[in-house]
Amino acid sequence: MLSWDDEATPVAKPAQAPQPQPALAAVTSPVLRPSASDIALNPALVAKPQSSAGAETRRVNAADKRIINGQTDVNQLVPFKYKWAWDKYLAGCANHWMPQEINMQRDIELWKNPNGLTEDERRVIKRNLGFFVTADSLAANNIVLGTYRHITAPECRQYLLRQAFEEAIHTHAYQYIVESLGLDEGEIFNAYHEVASIRDKDEFLIPFIDVLTNPEFKTGTVEADQTLLRSLIVFACLMEGLFFYVGFTQILALGRQNKMMGAAEQYQYILRDESMHCNFGIDLINTIKLENPHLWTAEFREEIKALFLRAVELEYRYAEDTMPRGVLGLNAPMFKGYLRFIANRRAQQIGLDQLFPQEENPFPWMSEMIDLKKERNFFETRVIEYQTGGALNWE
Ligand SMILES: [Fe+2]
Ligand SMILES: [Fe+2]
Repeated sequence: MLSWDDEATPVAKPAQAPQPQPALAAVTSPVLRPSASDIALNPALVAKPQSSAGAETRRVNAADKRIINGQTDVNQLVPFKYKWAWDKYLAGCANHWMPQEINMQRDIELWKNPNGLTEDERRVIKRNLGFFVTADSLAANNIVLGTYRHITAPECRQYLLRQAFEEAIHTHAYQYIVESLGLDEGEIFNAYHEVASIRDKDEFLIPFIDVLTNPEFKTGTVEADQTLLRSLIVFACLMEGLFFYVGFTQILALGRQNKMMGAAEQYQYILRDESMHCNFGIDLINTIKLENPHLWTAEFREEIKALFLRAVELEYRYAEDTMPRGVLGLNAPMFKGYLRFIANRRAQQIGLDQLFPQEENPFPWMSEMIDLKKERNFFETRVIEYQTGGALNWE
């Protein structure tokens, strides 16, 4: 065993050829060849082709890159193969924002005014935050501890790093709203344990996250690759792409009535980020399907459809629980139509048939919101000059 003393007083060794490091030695052994997952977790294991000199390193060829089970060096961003992922990374950076930039003063006054909001409106806000304050932590942990290490395309990893930070900003935004309004933090942050309609949604999601964060889990077999693909679909299409949208609609509906304008503005920024997360996830899923068509079996598709139906049901129960009566011109049955409309869209985006044919969007203004969010400086209140980490002072 090495200790600091061993390092400080090296023992003279007889001259001999340098021995390979254990990790590289494993690569040369036909018995101990590392799996693609091992390589994703430890780029030092990237296979080196044998040459007469035995030390030549092959350069990365873009055509050899794969989203999962790739054998190329994950440390080499270029040459690009998945330009769509890099473009989304750039777009995410261009959309950078921070919660403190948004003025919450009017929200605070409205919340503290006993006649400012109805009890039903207050319930919507508290239930809404109750879901979101922990949902984005789940999303961040899913990326950092799960998805990231199983993806072998560095362009996609680059986007996932950006996305992980955006999830942290979202958690910050929800916390910032809770703190600004002086809500009971214990009540809001424990809602995912204590409120059945929120707990049921999280209990549906968590097994799909846990399987990827399990240190024993590795891709490389049909079964494991389908497990990863299933979790990616649940995460992008059902969590970010469906579960978030009732919540976004509720708070944006408040904003449309000039209530909780600061919170609504925070949610608009979050919606912009989340639509990109969802689109990235869908591109990721479709590229994995393209590269691994054998995973997309009829049985697997049926399983995914059943998950979609379950998610629509859970989200509908959440809509009923947050809006037991009509509020803000919204009611739970309208959300049933909206959820079916979104579920159809997500299904089609990953190549499945519509689940609820001919469902119409009861909230066309939500599409406008999503489109408007493409404008970079949409909000007049936006602080667009940044102190980029504070200027360095050399004195
Ligand atoms: Fe988020
Ligand atoms: Fe997200």
